[in-house]
Amino acid sequence: MIAANREDELEAADVSPTPDDDPTPGPTDSGTRTDTQPTDGVVVRGAVGDDLAGVLSVGHRTWLATYEPIAGPEYVAMGLAKWWTSDVVTDSIRKGRTLVAVQGDEVVGVATFGPQDESFVLWKLYVLPGHHGHGIGSRLMDAVVERARENEHPRITLSYLEGNQQAARFYARHGFVETHRETPGSGLPESVWMVRELEKGEPS
Ligand SMILES: CC(C)(COP(=O)(O)OP(=O)(O)OC[C@H]1O[C@@H](n2cnc3c(N)ncnc32)[C@H](O)[C@@H]1OP(=O)(O)O)[C@@H](O)C(=O)NCCC(=O)NCCS
Repeated sequence: MIAANREDELEAADVSPTPDDDPTPGPTDSGTRTDTQPTDGVVVRGAVGDDLAGVLSVGHRTWLATYEPIAGPEYVAMGLAKWWTSDVVTDSIRKGRTLVAVQGDEVVGVATFGPQDESFVLWKLYVLPGHHGHGIGSRLMDAVVERARENEHPRITLSYLEGNQQAARFYARHGFVETHRETPGSGLPESVWMVRELEKGEPS
């Protein structure tokens, strides 16, 4: 997700007390909380330290498959070096801002989120290519919506890279509408920003 281009800024700037900054282990830190336990054996839960290698693997495999065709190998290399390092992922896990979808011992999907200004931003949503179309992305999205509600955020924002039709369709189906675009220059595709308003009591 190109929205991740601000995740490092968020992590750097996010010094105000927020629920995610609370050092007290929350439900996502425990590793015991289960958001969904579907019959196919995929479990969505808060990531723990032992998930680090699996999270990194999902990032590296999905970034290559997703972005090389639409943004090129240099963009992929830049993104992996910037947003999928052990330090960045560990920090997000420690803050309770990473969710994983796990099948057996394998991490097959990842979502990360966090506050920025008035918004709750979904920074990353990635499912391994071989696991697409089985509802894993939807379960991760449901869990992110639940986290946003728990933190009393009225909306979720995100962005995807123009040309990522799979993401565009998925987010539209999950109630997101386009708000604006950012042009990065250097011949890279635009970032398409979207929002989903969360009504109180609305099912995810
Ligand atoms: C976008 C992404 C996260 C969606 O994850 P996913 O696990 O494939 O999502 P789902 O399976 O919940 O939904 C995908 C489709 O499968 C269908 N589907 C969901 N559950 C299904 C099931 N049990 N059986 C069959 N089809 C199903 C949905 O109807 C959906 O249709 P759509 O094409 O209209 O969206 C995933 O495709 C991905 O990781 N893409 C590459 C990375 C990427 O672009 N990430 C977003 C960056 S901004």
